[in-house]
Amino acid sequence: MKELRSTAMTTRLHRLRATPALRDLVREHRLHPHHFIQPLFVTDDPSLAGEIPELPGVRRWLVEDVAAQVQRIAAVGVRGVLLFGVPQFKDASGSQAWAQDGPVCRAIRDLEPMSRDIAVIADVCLCQYTEHGHCGLLDESGRILNDQTLEVLGAASVAYAAAGASLVAPSGMMDGAVNAIRSALDDAAFEHVGILSYAVKHASALYAPFRGAARSAPVHGDRRTHQLDPANARQALREAELDFQEGADILMVKPALTNLDTLVRLRQRHPTAMLAAYEVSGEYIMLHSAAQRGLLDERSASLELLTAIKRAGADVIVTYRACQAAQWLAEDASC
Ligand code: PBG
Ligand code: ZN
Repeated sequence: MKELRSTAMTTRLHRLRATPALRDLVREHRLHPHHFIQPLFVTDDPSLAGEIPELPGVRRWLVEDVAAQVQRIAAVGVRGVLLFGVPQFKDASGSQAWAQDGPVCRAIRDLEPMSRDIAVIADVCLCQYTEHGHCGLLDESGRILNDQTLEVLGAASVAYAAAGASLVAPSGMMDGAVNAIRSALDDAAFEHVGILSYAVKHASALYAPFRGAARSAPVHGDRRTHQLDPANARQALREAELDFQEGADILMVKPALTNLDTLVRLRQRHPTAMLAAYEVSGEYIMLHSAAQRGLLDERSASLELLTAIKRAGADVIVTYRACQAAQWLAEDASC
């Protein structure tokens, strides 16, 4: 009789990798266009529309052109757009953020008829709209007035809901923002409008291209007094815990790649929560600029990173390549 061999000799993981068919068959995680959200910069200033030097491959859209573009995005299967206003006028309180004739409210009204096909999500923050470029109102010493800011965020959220947004997405990391926005929405009879919360948002150097695109860089100081120190994993869980309790419908982490550990932990701690990750401008640009120089293949590298974000636990991914990735996946799917 033949001697039994040790498992080290009988186990061959290569067997299930031998052919493309076997690899497809046993693949654990898959990307799908339905899970992508496309960020869009919307402006009412014609001189700002078009290619964005700080964020190559991405455009600012004139309000009048947004609906046509979102139609194209919906046509490739992407199910969400995240709107960032880039206003012609700024002031100390950021009033163009919630003005009904401001760029975002106008765009939302144009998109509302499409909102059954693609979720219209409004970013809620002040940094693009304030002259000082901070995410909240400031006192004389330049400190953020958290609680006064909450009132403005509530009012802006109600304005977006009234214009027809499906979700609002507070991104300023103000303490208590989800609670304040939930009450403001409910008081205005918008209890059906959900909150996608930027729950875990690092103070990150990877936002630099975005700040050029949104024209939202702070004129002085930085955002480290309110955004999360990237070195703190336990505080990330607390941030998410609070937003979950305050009634956030989706919890988002950002940047995505620096938060894969956070995603894994959040999925364990909140098995029923809907989780999102934002592949931010710096993450996008790293691959894009390397690919432009011929140093790597943007398609396969991007899909690999997006898959890793999914594998870590994200249900939904915000990515500047939403539209592009959806097309790449469609090519894969043809038979
Ligand atoms: C701030 C905000 C930021 C991003 C979106 N909204 C970060 C910041 O300026 O601190 C970054 C998104 C990206 O880099 O793609 N409200
Ligand atoms: Zn902001």
